[in-house]
Amino acid sequence: MKLEGKVAVVTGGGRNIGRAISLLFASEGAKVAIYDADEGRAAAVVEEVEAAGGGATYVIGPVESASAVEAMVETVVSRFGKIDILANCAAISDRQPMLELPDEEWQRILDVTLSGTYFCCKYVAKQMVAQGHGGAIVNFSSGSALKGNTGRVAYDVAKGGIIALTMDLAVQLAPHGIRTNAIAPGMSGSQVGGRIAFEDRHPPNLVGRAAYAEEQASVALFLASDDSAHIWGQTISVDGGSGIA
Ligand SMILES: NC(=O)c1ccc[n+]([C@@H]2O[C@H](COP(=O)([O-])OP(=O)(O)OC[C@H]3O[C@@H](n4cnc5c(N)ncnc54)[C@H](O)[C@@H]3O)[C@@H](O)[C@H]2O)c1
Repeated sequence: MKLEGKVAVVTGGGRNIGRAISLLFASEGAKVAIYDADEGRAAAVVEEVEAAGGGATYVIGPVESASAVEAMVETVVSRFGKIDILANCAAISDRQPMLELPDEEWQRILDVTLSGTYFCCKYVAKQMVAQGHGGAIVNFSSGSALKGNTGRVAYDVAKGGIIALTMDLAVQLAPHGIRTNAIAPGMSGSQVGGRIAFEDRHPPNLVGRAAYAEEQASVALFLASDDSAHIWGQTISVDGGSGIA
């Protein structure tokens, strides 16, 4: 087991990639705390983890509220004693060209997707620093941040920001033994925050299908575990080759 004795916080753990990460981390011995805005989803994944013999809990709240994130960290520590790993999956996306995007929607997407990731990194890292035995942070960028797109400017800017955030935090948290890396998925499982299912997604990649959520989770496990001990501040594309083809 690669995460025996560890405690992992998984934001957005109620669905798709975050759900797959929660199940995989728990199967590798971690206790998993799901932080999600949707109680029904989070509770269902906790049940799945427990049915498989793992340990999990959930905390409900918005990633974009610094005070809610701080409170979440306290709650997780009160339940599980510490935090060793953070996987930041929670995000939302716009689906309109910039010329039609309401300004408040631009701000909302940056708040949730970029500031939410930042707040979770900040308050979990403070806890990790206080514990004094390092940790691992896995952020989620997107292949979509690495090229121009027709209808998701706020999401792409947020995801580009996460690449920069990941490098900065890798440098700033390295003295505390906290490794920060990111994954840039291509189309994976269901649509971010949307209804388009795996079967109806057809990305132009080298594989001819979207990634299974589990194929993102296995890379998150690699980045969260000591198997990637010498990888710092990187954003790894997991996109079936769509970025290079
Ligand atoms: N699915 C894809 O094709 C894809 C592609 C590239 C990148 N990604 C990235 O991977 C990560 C996971 O994507 P996904 O498809 O699993 O997402 P998803 O939309 O399926 O699930 C996101 C989860 O986050 C929760 N959430 C949303 N807003 C929240 C908030 N404000 N506070 C707390 N929780 C909130 C939702 O309730 C949901 O359970 C995201 O960061 C996404 O941008 C996904």
